[in-house]
Amino acid sequence: MDGANGACTRMSHDAAPYLERCFLFDATEDSYPITEISGTIPASLRGTYYVNGPARFERAGQRYKHWLDGDGMVCAMRFDDAGAHFTNRFVRTGKLREEEESGRFVYRGFGTAFNGDRLRRNVMLEPPVNVSVYPFGGTLLAFAEQSLPFELDPVTLETRGEYDFQGRLNSVTPFAAHAKFDPASGNMVNFGISYAADKPALHLYEFEPGGSMLRRRRFAIGAPHSNHDFGLTPSFAVFYLSPLLMDFQKFWGGVSVMESLRWEPESGSRILVAPRTPGADSFTIEAGQGYCLHVINCFEDGGRLIVDILELEAPVYPEYQPVPDLFANVTPCRPTRYVIDLANQRLSERIAMTYDRAPDFPSVDPALVGFAYDEFWMLGISACGQPGRKFFDQLAHGDWRTGSVDDIYQTEPGVYLGGEPVYVNGSILVEHLDAREKKCEMWVFDASHVAKGPVTRLPLRHPVHPGFHASFAPSAAA
Ligand SMILES: [Fe+2]
Repeated sequence: MDGANGACTRMSHDAAPYLERCFLFDATEDSYPITEISGTIPASLRGTYYVNGPARFERAGQRYKHWLDGDGMVCAMRFDDAGAHFTNRFVRTGKLREEEESGRFVYRGFGTAFNGDRLRRNVMLEPPVNVSVYPFGGTLLAFAEQSLPFELDPVTLETRGEYDFQGRLNSVTPFAAHAKFDPASGNMVNFGISYAADKPALHLYEFEPGGSMLRRRRFAIGAPHSNHDFGLTPSFAVFYLSPLLMDFQKFWGGVSVMESLRWEPESGSRILVAPRTPGADSFTIEAGQGYCLHVINCFEDGGRLIVDILELEAPVYPEYQPVPDLFANVTPCRPTRYVIDLANQRLSERIAMTYDRAPDFPSVDPALVGFAYDEFWMLGISACGQPGRKFFDQLAHGDWRTGSVDDIYQTEPGVYLGGEPVYVNGSILVEHLDAREKKCEMWVFDASHVAKGPVTRLPLRHPVHPGFHASFAPSAAA
């Protein structure tokens, strides 16, 4: 694999040596107990870690350009009194089945269009279902961007099919990949963007853990914002709407989503504060010119609403290509706090941390989603600002009490981290991808001191691709 992409020939100025080995290989589906564990699995870690991510980029000489294009594979690491057990499987979408049968990529990707490629019902991407995976109401759902999730068996990861919330949504309902879960009720809240040129709108959905829909609200958003994530509090859903705009006429003309997006920083960014329940109106706050892919967390504090995001200077999607040479020109990104005065509906304060290593995949203690919190974890790119490809090689731990990111684990060159760091009862779980040795492990860190390195290392039999988003389902007895 070193040949065409030349890792060996440019090691001296390559900020991501062997990175192609993390993307360009055929993933192996398997299920097995983990042996040769280093360290001790914390007793508080009982349940199953799940991560979803793109895991197929090539087929019969075709190669996807963009990280978001690859077919989704879910990995599960189950922790119980007997030890740890790993299972991984592709999400068996209709897209995957058809493309396996035809031996080539058939459908257009987020960042890759082919001659004669196809769309779902001629209007939207046929989803690779590769963004996230969440336990919900006793089942497991793998999410795509702006389409229905797929239901999986929580143990075997066998795909059961599209999950339509008891028939309340359909196969062209826009539905985002970043569902949020109310820690008090277990309800799922999620959104979808309708890109109708004359009336772009954001739809907000709330479901009980059984899957029945409690509410559906619609908010006008003025422009067809591409939006990926949001924050949830007991009263509000909060959106940082960046001026990255989607042109569906271009998309329907035959180009990829990437080529249909337009960055208009002069239009500015806005925070949309959308009440979850009927009877209250939404409002927006002007919020600079940055770009936000991921929200860290939001919470209400008396008459204030705290909105914490990872704020980039420009969209990050262009940095997800060309696979495997990613993040060549990624802009600095910082954890940034916006404080909104709810009575006046005004921005009262903006605080940006100094840590700017293009962090992404932020996470918090899931019990504190929507509530006051201080600590968060994320992946960072140490070579941000340097030329050339690069990738996540830091696990970073931020704290709003100090206003800084002082606790950082740094990998060695040629070793990367993958998947949203997941917090479980004082531990952080993350994928450790040693591209030098073509070996992958799951690593467990003490959440309070990630700089000390892992407390547990769980070696995998086969390499896995870097994941996107992860979650944890506690065992019933935990
Ligand atoms: Fe995401």
